Amino acid sequence: MRSAVTVSVLSLAYLQLSAAHVGCNGQELIRRQTVQSEGQSTNPNTECQGYSYAPLEAIQQNYPGSWVTASILPNDTEALALYNKINTEVTAQFPNIQPHGTHNGSFAGVQYNSSDPDCWWTWSNCVTPAASTGLQPDWASVPEPETFGLTFDDGPNCAHNLFYDFLQENNQKATMFYIGSNIYDSPLQGLRGFADGHHICVHTWSHQYMTSFTNEVAFAELYYTRKIITELFGVTPLCWRPPYGDVDNRIRAIAKGLNLTTVMWVNDTADWTLDEPNTNNWPTVDANYQYVIDGASNGMWSEFGPIVLAHELTNMTMTEAMTYYPKIKAAFRHVVPLASAFNVTSPYAEGNVSYPDFKTYTSGQTNQTICQGRCDAVGETTSSSATSATGQMTATTASTHSASVTASAKASSVVVAKTGGAKRSRWLSGGLTIMMAGVCGVIML
Ligand SMILES: *[C@@H]1O[C@H](CO)[C@@H](O)[C@H](O)[C@H]1NC(C)=O
Ligand SMILES: *[C@@H]1O[C@H](CO)[C@@H](O)[C@H](O)[C@H]1NC(C)=O
Ligand SMILES: *[C@@H]1O[C@H](CO)[C@@H](O)[C@H](O)[C@H]1NC(C)=O
Ligand SMILES: *[C@@H]1O[C@H](CO)[C@@H](O)[C@H](O)[C@H]1NC(C)=O
Ligand SMILES: *[C@@H]1O[C@H](CO)[C@@H](O)[C@H](O)[C@H]1NC(C)=O
Ligand SMILES: *[C@@H]1O[C@H](CO)[C@@H](O)[C@H](O)[C@H]1NC(C)=O
Ligand SMILES: *[C@@H]1O[C@H](CO)[C@@H](O)[C@H](O)[C@H]1NC(C)=O
Ligand SMILES: *[C@@H]1O[C@H](CO)[C@@H](O)[C@H](O)[C@H]1NC(C)=O
Ligand SMILES: *[C@@H]1O[C@H](CO)[C@@H](O)[C@H](O)[C@H]1NC(C)=O
Ligand SMILES: [Zn+2]
Repeated sequence: MRSAVTVSVLSLAYLQLSAAHVGCNGQELIRRQTVQSEGQSTNPNTECQGYSYAPLEAIQQNYPGSWVTASILPNDTEALALYNKINTEVTAQFPNIQPHGTHNGSFAGVQYNSSDPDCWWTWSNCVTPAASTGLQPDWASVPEPETFGLTFDDGPNCAHNLFYDFLQENNQKATMFYIGSNIYDSPLQGLRGFADGHHICVHTWSHQYMTSFTNEVAFAELYYTRKIITELFGVTPLCWRPPYGDVDNRIRAIAKGLNLTTVMWVNDTADWTLDEPNTNNWPTVDANYQYVIDGASNGMWSEFGPIVLAHELTNMTMTEAMTYYPKIKAAFRHVVPLASAFNVTSPYAEGNVSYPDFKTYTSGQTNQTICQGRCDAVGETTSSSATSATGQMTATTASTHSASVTASAKASSVVVAKTGGAKRSRWLSGGLTIMMAGVCGVIML
């Protein structure tokens, strides 16, 4: 009999801060090995200090560098085989869809059929591919009325502890769209997101306009992000969100080949503009949040609920999210992560995480459960947890043993090269000393 237990990585992991080692300029690089050790501080400088993490060091040569445009690595035969399979299908189905515009989003001079045959969101806000394509509609809203689909993009932010503490104190989970390069740079912060029970999805490796890429690059941007999540968190996501919403049927088909559901939004907070220098965008972003909130009393959300675009990108976006969270809670009947909104009780390919469905989540049981083996395995029951009609586990606090140990062992097993990359334009402020492949330097993040 297998047991289902609640994730409690934070309470089980040991503090292992002591073993510092020498980094780039002879300074000591902190070795952080556990989610807890990284999760302790809410001082952004401490949180974002470089650290090394052995599970990442062991695999990092199998990934594109930090903030490098992904492509299939020369010797990656597994990636290549999967790409060849997906590419064959995609080119057969969509032979006429060419890349659009530029990687930085400049679509000046783009020639495109104004009737939007490719369901290109950037062109037309299309989220519903023609039925003949066999592609599912994107998730852009949640089916339940008066229900707010809570999502945050662009994490893990190295300085997210205050924000994640806040979500935890509110027993609130969200769907988190993680950038592969950010996981590569801040693996323990990413691991905390998973351990906290947030619903983890892919947000590409280097956060560029996906429709501008060839099939191979678009595949690699998704593939390596998915893979680093599998290798470091132990689960494979089944959802993704295109940066800037830039998706068309060709990109959707590549994502589908990787079993990734495309997730969009109906309303945008535009919170990322809070970071723009010499501007005061707070009133605009306030108004955007308030508009969605007002919808709860003016009938806008009487048939379905919004999925809202917001970010973990900066201190300002997180601050704004924390400011508006109580107002959202007060205005909406429910505030839920997308897995719960759609009753996706098995949100990762391995099947060893059971997520609360809508009814369970909204009854206050918001924790995920990690099972040893598949949660839906025959005979899977424990005395301390309920089994729902569909066989999935509901979370329990009663026993925090094996699976928690597994997760914390993963978190604490060894050590991440705090690698940083060249390309990082508008992300975070502050400098960080980095070490990458033996090359030392200071980058402005
Ligand atoms: C690819 O593999 C070959 C043989 O194992 C090795 O010599 C070469 O350095 C590898 N290339 C890269 C880019 O990893
Ligand atoms: C975007 O990319 C195009 C082509 O690569 C380049 O000509 C243009 O200057 C870039 N624009 C910005 C704002 O970086
Ligand atoms: C534009 O797309 C429509 C289908 O949406 C198609 O019937 C038409 O032939 C296309 N026009 C061109 C010039 O490709
Ligand atoms: C889920 O199962 C896979 C094996 O299928 C394992 O490698 C992974 O560590 C498990 N994940 C967690 C979070 O326990
Ligand atoms: C997608 O899911 C199917 C069904 O679970 C599985 O057989 C297939 O291997 C998955 N594909 C990828 C690329 O993970
Ligand atoms: C917000 O979403 C609703 C529902 O889809 C839509 O009717 C409305 O136009 C959206 N508003 C904005 C400003 O995007
Ligand atoms: C934003 O930064 C300030 C100054 O460092 C800090 O006091 C505050 O807690 C941060 N807010 C969040 C949400 O991290
Ligand atoms: C989720 O399950 C509940 C029953 O618990 C049902 O009422 C609701 O329609 C389901 N939602 C979806 C999107 O399947
Ligand atoms: C959910 O998990 C947290 C630890 O992350 C624990 O403190 C809390 O009691 C759990 N809640 C329930 C209802 O099981
Ligand atoms: Zn983004």
